Amino acid sequence: MAESSASATVAQHGQPDIVSKRDFLKLTLGAGAAIGVCAIAWPFIDSMNPSRDVLALSSVEVDLTPITEGMGITVVWRGKPIFVRHLTTKEYDEAANTPLNQLIEPIPAADRVKPNHHQWIILIGICTHLGCIPLGNKPTDPRGEWGGWFCPCHGSQYDTVGRVRHGPAPLNLWLPPYAFESDTKIKIG
Ligand code: FES
Repeated sequence: MAESSASATVAQHGQPDIVSKRDFLKLTLGAGAAIGVCAIAWPFIDSMNPSRDVLALSSVEVDLTPITEGMGITVVWRGKPIFVRHLTTKEYDEAANTPLNQLIEPIPAADRVKPNHHQWIILIGICTHLGCIPLGNKPTDPRGEWGGWFCPCHGSQYDTVGRVRHGPAPLNLWLPPYAFESDTKIKIG
């Protein structure tokens, strides 16, 4: 039988498995102060029933059609939050035009996206400092000075392609394995 996969919009039990940042934040903020979140966020989220079936899946398909420019969503893949964000041309160009010597982990923007799909950035949404989930998928979220993601736990900031611009996070947000199946669909894993 072919490798397990599922649409990101409907899980096997019929519940949406697109998980908004707000959902995650409810979990984390409800559990205590920001610093405490870092220590408990992953064991807690990892034990949640909604991702049980997703944990068993080796891949997740995501329909990009509803994600308009400037928006992002969070889906779950193997129990991890995956940020899928549709960048504006300006957002990508700013990252691409950033001199590498200004970066903490200097990786070109073009190496963070797929060829011919520069407007899409796909990231594992776990801060590389202590594992909090950064804010920034929604235009109304704080995105930090570089317009990407802001980690509320200790103030790390990432640019629009997930490169760390301000610590204490030491590394860029990690990239999951994924591929475009069409211009409007990706397969993660
Ligand atoms: S977990 Fe410390 S800055 Fe993100």
